[in-house]
Amino acid sequence: MKVSDAIKSRRSVNIFDPAYKISDAEVHELIEAASLSPSAFNIQHWRFVWLRDEAALKQAKEATWFQPQVTDASLVLLVCLDLKAWQKSPERYWVNAPADVSESMINNIQQLYASNAQLERDEGMRSAAMASMALMLKAQEMGLDSCAMACDFEKMSEVVNLPEDHAICMVLAFGKRLQEPYPRPGMLSVDDVLITDSF
Ligand SMILES: Cc1cc2nc3c(=O)[nH]c(=O)nc-3n(C[C@H](O)[C@H](O)[C@H](O)COP(=O)(O)O)c2cc1C
Repeated sequence: MKVSDAIKSRRSVNIFDPAYKISDAEVHELIEAASLSPSAFNIQHWRFVWLRDEAALKQAKEATWFQPQVTDASLVLLVCLDLKAWQKSPERYWVNAPADVSESMINNIQQLYASNAQLERDEGMRSAAMASMALMLKAQEMGLDSCAMACDFEKMSEVVNLPEDHAICMVLAFGKRLQEPYPRPGMLSVDDVLITDSF
């Protein structure tokens, strides 16, 4: 599938076929593809929680204001980020780089995030969002639909026992659509969104 076809055919699907089963190999393929996404300093902040347990999915549905995707989709991932991944053996993010590059990157990482919690969070969130989009486009190539979802972050944190130093980016549901989504609801034009040089 061409990238442009994946972009065009991806829609947020709300009604999934609950009978459709996804294989472990497909989940692995999705995560492997998403893991190639760009991330700040290659920190790969993303952590994907695969919600499989029926009771956990029921709780997760509650935490998404009872959206049916959570229990009808074939795969539900909670895209999280490790806010402190930059502190956790950062040499592994640059292990294949020349020694001077690796050293300088690790120094930069420490300098940038040690006293800037806002940047620490923003960069992790940006990176996790990149991985989320990659997951949705890869799913499209694999013949799977998807839906990005918000949630009650506090409730969802309890469902997955989110560590103190992690945050939630979004919920993603994957599966086969049972119903076509509405036509695109109201799209801005290129002129509306493209600003040249300054606002
Ligand atoms: C951060 C984020 C949160 C979203 N939350 C929900 C949601 O809770 N439920 C839902 O059905 N769609 C949700 N969406 C999907 C948007 O409604 C959808 O992307 C938008 O209406 C455009 O439609 P399309 O994705 O089919 O092009 C969310 C999308 C994003 C990026």
